[in-house]
Amino acid sequence: MKFDISLLCSVAVGAQVVLGTPIRSRTPYNVKETHTAPSKWTKLGRAPSQHKLHLKIGLKQNNFEELSRHLNEVSNPDHGRYGQHLSVDEVNDFVKPTDETLDLTHEWLLSNGVSEMSYSPAKDWINILLDVGSAEALLDTEYSVYRHEDGTALVRTSKWSLPSHLHEHIDTIQPTTSFMRSVPKKSDWIQFSQPWTPPDYKPPTNETISKVCQFFPVTIECFQTLYATKGYQQKAPGIAKIAFNNFLNQTPIRPDIEAFLKHYRPEAADSANTFKSIEIDNGPAAQSEPLTLEQAAGDDFVREANLDAQTILGMTYPQPVYSYSTGGSPPFIPDLNAPTNTNEPYLEWVNFVMAQHDIPQVISTSYGDDEQTVPEAYARRVCQQFARLGARGVSLLVSSGDDGVGDEDGSSCYTNDGKNKTTFLPSFPASCPYVTSVGATQQFEPEVSAYRAPGLGPDGLKHGFYASGSGFSYYFDRPDWQDDVVPAYVKSLKGKYDGLYNKGGRGYPDISAQGLYFAFVFNLTESSISGTSASCPLMSSVVSLVNDALISSGKPTMGWLNPWLYKKGYKAFTDVTIGDSYGCGTKGFPVAKGWDPVTGFGTPIFPEMVRLAKGDHDGHH
Ligand SMILES: *[C@@H]1O[C@H](CO)[C@@H](O)[C@H](O)[C@H]1NC(C)=O
Ligand SMILES: *[C@@H]1O[C@H](CO)[C@@H](O)[C@H](O)[C@H]1NC(C)=O
Ligand SMILES: *[C@@H]1O[C@H](CO)[C@@H](O)[C@H](O)[C@H]1NC(C)=O
Repeated sequence: MKFDISLLCSVAVGAQVVLGTPIRSRTPYNVKETHTAPSKWTKLGRAPSQHKLHLKIGLKQNNFEELSRHLNEVSNPDHGRYGQHLSVDEVNDFVKPTDETLDLTHEWLLSNGVSEMSYSPAKDWINILLDVGSAEALLDTEYSVYRHEDGTALVRTSKWSLPSHLHEHIDTIQPTTSFMRSVPKKSDWIQFSQPWTPPDYKPPTNETISKVCQFFPVTIECFQTLYATKGYQQKAPGIAKIAFNNFLNQTPIRPDIEAFLKHYRPEAADSANTFKSIEIDNGPAAQSEPLTLEQAAGDDFVREANLDAQTILGMTYPQPVYSYSTGGSPPFIPDLNAPTNTNEPYLEWVNFVMAQHDIPQVISTSYGDDEQTVPEAYARRVCQQFARLGARGVSLLVSSGDDGVGDEDGSSCYTNDGKNKTTFLPSFPASCPYVTSVGATQQFEPEVSAYRAPGLGPDGLKHGFYASGSGFSYYFDRPDWQDDVVPAYVKSLKGKYDGLYNKGGRGYPDISAQGLYFAFVFNLTESSISGTSASCPLMSSVVSLVNDALISSGKPTMGWLNPWLYKKGYKAFTDVTIGDSYGCGTKGFPVAKGWDPVTGFGTPIFPEMVRLAKGDHDGHH
């Protein structure tokens, strides 16, 4: 059976509501979650009571531990089940809630007059559409309008409650306390295409590399040469697929992509008009017309989608490429009385994808936010959704962020727990162990971690701070596959930065790829763009080519990469040993020999990845 969001069974159970005064709840309400608004947000006032909320109720999954055990086995190259990914039905079976959980939640919703609801296929999420007034009654809370210092606004609350007997049955309800905005992890756009080098730059001595790689801009041909994908003939066309995610009304612009490919990967040019655009929750379709003057002058936000599309099509042609555009969370306009909708786009996307039978085996996501903008319970549930993608054999890659360990001067490097302590700021979902987090490098001989101090750029204009995102999660403990390398790295710091990061947390990134000054077309103009937003689709493309090689020799695709990377795969990466992560007014974590939380294990060597991955499967099949 095939699901999509519009087909999710919408069950009207209103007929069953017992007339009369509903019992509001069989037990008294208690606070379920408190999460302070992050420091850059200001509360403006109460939310209009007719504003609509797409509430998602995350029911306790009955057997996530068992799913996690299976995932670990099928992702571990030393296990007999390596590569034997699970079907959508097997995965759903592990995470469906118990009947008791479903019954008690229904009873509570019905007794509060909520009779229209739909479910995710595993029934672990219930979706309801409510106005703010009804949601406030249901959750014994008050919603407010909060404004970020950059001007965007959200309808959220800092505290909500549930009847006490439901606390153990419901993990999370959103949108309530999540201030995550899925901001594109990209640095600034430079409208200038002539080659440029900084005064202290030494070109590579290797002629093969120096012929195709320049400091500004870096091109597809340079990546293909550096990571040795050049000349690889795909052998299973149409089977290995790759996707990228767009949020915040980002959408790829086909004429820009075509112009890019004509210049940098001519044989792929037609694919600009044929890659698949999938719209979720009224997200915008890939645009076939050039940017309008208004769009070009307006927000910065269509550049991310263009960057992902240009990089992935340029690197993986002729693979099928899917562009997911998830709508929602439009800028909320506080003085507008018309009802607008509020949702949590990340959750909309992952629930949509989980319901599909045909999922591309690699998905690149260049959106994230500070981990502490996301309440812990919600971060865990989203991360568990990612585990389900991994169990089905999907590699999910996420950019590590563009601010090193936190913003340059440290003005936002404080905890959000009411204590306001100085801290480095990890990024989510890069900090989730079930994603592969991708950092950024620059230069070629050797590659070093990506860093740009604020100053004059290639266009003679002043540009801001940019440093490859780096850190340790406060929410997710260090997974055992990191035990061989992360404690050793922490020890090598000899106490430096103690108290500013979680030594026992999941360290990231896992790997890295080029991320400064990508050649880029926007508004039909040659230009350049930077960020781990660039390194993530680049790295994802290489993984997708590895999948082609595996499929063509009858082997399963890579799936969740991390256990493989930390056990064996790291040998197929060029270790990056120079640089620092910067941020929070410090030099940040130093890049080191072996794994480090700035460049991970380093940058890919495609033929080695193929050789190692094939060998691991040969052991078992
Ligand atoms: C130069 O770089 C290419 C591409 O990475 C590599 O194949 C070649 O071995 C290098 N040559 C030398 C002399 O290191
Ligand atoms: C986009 O292109 C149009 C037409 O060439 C030009 O007038 C406009 O200034 C460009 N906008 C930006 C932001 O580059
Ligand atoms: C946290 O402390 C810093 C430094 O003392 C101060 O600038 C900032 O305003 C404080 N933030 C909050 C929310 O109290």
